[in-house]
Amino acid sequence: MSQEPTRTATPSPSVAAPPPPSPLGTMEPWNLVATGYAAEALPYFQVFAKAALDCLNPGTDARIVDVAAGPGTLSLLAAAAGMRVSAIDFSESMVAAFRERAQRANLMDRIDLRQGDAQQLPFETGAYDAAFSMFGLMFFPDRAAGLRELRRVLRPGKRALISSWVPFDGPFGELLRAAQEVIPGLTLGGGGKPPMTDPEDIVREMTAAGFSSVAVKTVAHELTAPSFDAFWELMQRTNAPLVLIRHRMGEQRWSEVAPGLRERVRGRLPSGPLLIGRGAYFGMATA
Ligand SMILES: C[S@@+](CC[C@H](N)C(=O)[O-])C[C@H]1O[C@@H](n2cnc3c(N)ncnc32)[C@H](O)[C@@H]1O
Repeated sequence: MSQEPTRTATPSPSVAAPPPPSPLGTMEPWNLVATGYAAEALPYFQVFAKAALDCLNPGTDARIVDVAAGPGTLSLLAAAAGMRVSAIDFSESMVAAFRERAQRANLMDRIDLRQGDAQQLPFETGAYDAAFSMFGLMFFPDRAAGLRELRRVLRPGKRALISSWVPFDGPFGELLRAAQEVIPGLTLGGGGKPPMTDPEDIVREMTAAGFSSVAVKTVAHELTAPSFDAFWELMQRTNAPLVLIRHRMGEQRWSEVAPGLRERVRGRLPSGPLLIGRGAYFGMATA
């Protein structure tokens, strides 16, 4: 992993039209992938969670908030370091995976874990030393509300960090395009540019939420699959949009469509190892 120098950007006065709602802003796909995510995707996300904690460096006795916490990726690292953590996620299965991991690590006594919509936080105002939302707030239908809530819970002068993906179309883009071709009428919403994947947008939105000293850092960390077969298997277990497509079709229809879809995608990708992710943007700002 490498971290490029932090860069700041001037907030743009123009306000972009809101993108269409993404299914990733709903619970359904996250409930479907929680088990595979906790079992297989977690190590990749942990790299960014560790980098985020290093960036804000809240101190081992800090009180922190982890918003859209998933299976506790950042929360458990923070609690293991001694921090007290208030965490929230709206997916029942993600919260169950979080609780299971935290109990196994004997960390629940440092964690206040809630299930709920993080666009409104059930946490105290002005009480926290750092606030994080790793690849979660980016999907909220009302990101402005999510950001205002992050700011509200922070002690004045303390910092928030949100992460989003560095845009990368790659094999997963091919997969979704092929799915649109072979599954007539497939509508997943969320088309167009993914949310918060432009540093200018991150600066503008955090500034509009009342944060100051907003800066965006690029954290480069590649995700690769050793082969097409490994990519296909991983996507079927951990990729929220693909798992949602399969669930909505039902197993019978999926078994009819999947072989053709697989071959279509395979034909468009190079043989050998595949690059499937490049890294993340960290938006950091002071309350
Ligand atoms: C890609 S996962 C990231 C999980 C974790 N932060 C990590 O870094 O591994 C996105 C998470 O956001 C959660 N999420 C999305 N929208 C949410 C909302 N409005 N309120 C609470 N959680 C939400 C999902 O349930 C999912 O667990």
